[in-house]
Amino acid sequence: MKVRNIAIMGLGTVGGGAYDILVGNHDYIKRTRGVDIRIKKILDRDYAPLEKRGIPREKFAESVEELASDKDIELVVETMGGVEPAKTFITTILKSGKSVVTANKELLAKHWSELEPIAKANNCGLFFEASCVGGVPVIRALGESFQGDKITAVYGIINGTTNYILSKMTSEGCDYATALGEAQALGYAEADPTSDVDGYDAQYKLSILGSLAFHTCLPYTSILREGISKITANDIRNARDLGYIIKLLAIGKRDGNRVEARVHPAFVPAKHPLASVSGAYNAVYLNGDAVGDLMFFGAGAGARPTGSAIVSDVIKALKDGPTYTDFDNSGRPDKDIELVGDFMSGYYICITVDDKAGVLSRISTVLGDNGVSIKAATQEPSSDESATVVFLTHAAREHAVMQSLKTIENLASVRSVDSTVRVLE
Ligand code: NAP
Ligand code: HSE
Repeated sequence: MKVRNIAIMGLGTVGGGAYDILVGNHDYIKRTRGVDIRIKKILDRDYAPLEKRGIPREKFAESVEELASDKDIELVVETMGGVEPAKTFITTILKSGKSVVTANKELLAKHWSELEPIAKANNCGLFFEASCVGGVPVIRALGESFQGDKITAVYGIINGTTNYILSKMTSEGCDYATALGEAQALGYAEADPTSDVDGYDAQYKLSILGSLAFHTCLPYTSILREGISKITANDIRNARDLGYIIKLLAIGKRDGNRVEARVHPAFVPAKHPLASVSGAYNAVYLNGDAVGDLMFFGAGAGARPTGSAIVSDVIKALKDGPTYTDFDNSGRPDKDIELVGDFMSGYYICITVDDKAGVLSRISTVLGDNGVSIKAATQEPSSDESATVVFLTHAAREHAVMQSLKTIENLASVRSVDSTVRVLE
């Protein structure tokens, strides 16, 4: 059987996971998949950790050009992360006619429309199963399964780090910084964890998943983004008391030519299947007009789960060759697409007010004047003549709620609008 040589750029968490699977399962893959894959070269900026792994020095590459010009290497895995130099390196590899397998959702969300044409022009492929939802094969499913369905919704928990943090804060009362530190130590977080906690990572992933699901570019810049850094222990407690669990959700919907896309924390009803997705696990719901609802669940981050997606792409690339997106991958949505910013949602609103007669009714009036209907309201007195008022609303227009809050903030007896979290209906 012919040896198929590949290279890896960036042997950290994900690259290391892929390396371990390719080496550890080499004979199994050769026997069951019929491909004899060898890692000929590895490019990294620090070779000390690789030496500790017992990787021989002759495998260490000096430059991306060395990989590109090596006629024995058929494919290169990019698991360095970030936009540059990853973009330049991938471009160099694709221009040499070798396929690339990447886990880099940021690069893909920002430069997919530039990289795919380079792959096409050089008869090679750009594979990216590992970029979204770790080891869960949702990209493959979107490309190869239910091809006759119109996908109307893709939504769920698609960031492992924030789900780990929120789970720890909810179930163990862990503080935010400790939980984030643990997620970093476990290899779930991005090199700059701001990308996770501020929702960028989920925004990039939703851009990729939404584009594939809805067959039109969904630029990441068009997706509303809010992270979890403003979620307090108080919000988590209030959520629990009201029968909800707080999760960072990514929500994409297509109704005809109207597309709605957003990433934000949400109150998820405790009985909803997404409420029980904890730790670094992820879950993605898809709805197709024929197949109905599907839920994909599994490890959303980490070395071996994400390594599994990388290895799967490597085998697919070597065995089946490239495939390309089936929509106009220009970086812009199709002309007839309307991106909807004024979506409908329920809301949890927590406000600190002076503990005086009539305050609640003034706030209710503002909400009512904006067409926002209250589902439940509670008031807790505090020691300093203030009170905390919590509202749950019925489904209301996003813009109407935001407009109401601007007015409420300026009411004389309102001390602060402390939290606003959308509620999953
Ligand atoms: P990581 O642990 O930091 O690994 C990245 C590796 O690449 C490190 O060895 C790093 O070296 C090396 N590297 C970075 N810049 C380089 C450069 N310019 N030249 C050569 N080597 C370079 O990161 P990771 O968590 O594996 O993430 C890698 C990619 O996978 C990212 O795109 C990330 O978004 C994506 N991803 C991660 C996960 C996950 O669970 N971690 C899951 C899915 C997708 P240093 O150690 O010296 O920085
Ligand atoms: N930082 C990402 C996460 C890695 O926590 O989900 C997986 O893409």
